[in-house]
Amino acid sequence: MTQSVQPFGVRIRGTGSCVPERRLTNEDLSKLVDTNDEWIVQRTGIHERRVCDLSTEGTFTMARDALKNALDAAEMKGSDLDLIIVGTVTAEMTCPSVAARVGAALGAVPAAAFDLSAACCGFVYSINLAQALIQSGQFRSIGVVGAECMSSIVDYSDRTVSILFGDAAGAAILTRDPDPRIGCMYSTMGSDGSGWSSLYIPRRLQEVPVSDIDNPIALGHLRMNGKEVFRFAVTKFRDVIEDAMHKTGLTPESVGQVICHQSNIRIIESAREKLGLPHEKVYINIDRFGNSSAGSVGLCLDQLWRAGKIEKERPFVMVAFGGGLTWASGVWRV
Ligand code: COA
Repeated sequence: MTQSVQPFGVRIRGTGSCVPERRLTNEDLSKLVDTNDEWIVQRTGIHERRVCDLSTEGTFTMARDALKNALDAAEMKGSDLDLIIVGTVTAEMTCPSVAARVGAALGAVPAAAFDLSAACCGFVYSINLAQALIQSGQFRSIGVVGAECMSSIVDYSDRTVSILFGDAAGAAILTRDPDPRIGCMYSTMGSDGSGWSSLYIPRRLQEVPVSDIDNPIALGHLRMNGKEVFRFAVTKFRDVIEDAMHKTGLTPESVGQVICHQSNIRIIESAREKLGLPHEKVYINIDRFGNSSAGSVGLCLDQLWRAGKIEKERPFVMVAFGGGLTWASGVWRV
């Protein structure tokens, strides 16, 4: 947990996002597995999600295009960046990083570049880290991306997983600002690895936990114990938002947007109701994009930013939880 010292301010100069054109509806899924639109909508709030054409699209192309959009919005070039961080667990290759390829594609060489693995917390972990690096004085301009091609790791014969996930990338450009009041007011990042087997992508049979040994395992594909994740998420989400608002003195009236990782509408709604937040302050796009893991918070931020919903007077909160298990939050003033 960190309370910012703020030697420099950190400005979000621009945001961007990218989603593939291709839509995968509940109706489409019902032709692949034993499911139906009513069950999916009631249990998750999802109507459709976007999926890459894997012959031409993937985490790299979405991350590149999202960051390019953010640079354009910030009226900056790749060469203005001195670091690129991509939060992802679906990099095409473990080496090189997606970030290094994005940097080369956007003319950011010789900016530093690395990927960050924190599952659905990828964007919030990355932006928290980036702002701390700017505040430390070491970096001036950082491109932060959350990008996930979930369709490359989803087993479309597994109905518990395939209904939830979609592909997306969201990005933000952070720059050093002389006004120390601008930027991240408070952030948290945490993990509890004892819960790892609730959400994992096995590469080798040796890694498969005892609880899953009798189940069909597709190596390289996401395994999820939905009930366990739900139990963890429903209290953690509420606690993390409550902590962020409490530590910064925000109330349901004074907070701007609360940007939640789009995991499941029931998890978000449960937190919203318990905290007394009005509907219009908790953005929802899971109905159209599903759960895009590290892509989701950045995508929401970009959609809100472009719609003029991020206000100067009202700090906004970003919050996520995911595989690891991990959780993270950040409170920002723009
Ligand atoms: N379509 C139709 N029926 C389905 C189904 C599907 N896609 N998936 C499961 N079912 C069935 C189950 O077999 C079960 O049937 P039964 O009662 O006859 O045994 C019934 O529906 C209820 O299943 P259950 O697993 O209890 O559903 P749920 O209410 O827990 O919802 C999830 C399942 C996955 C939607 C929910 O657990 C969830 O969202 N968990 C959190 C996941 C998450 O957020 N992951 C990402 C973390 S970042």
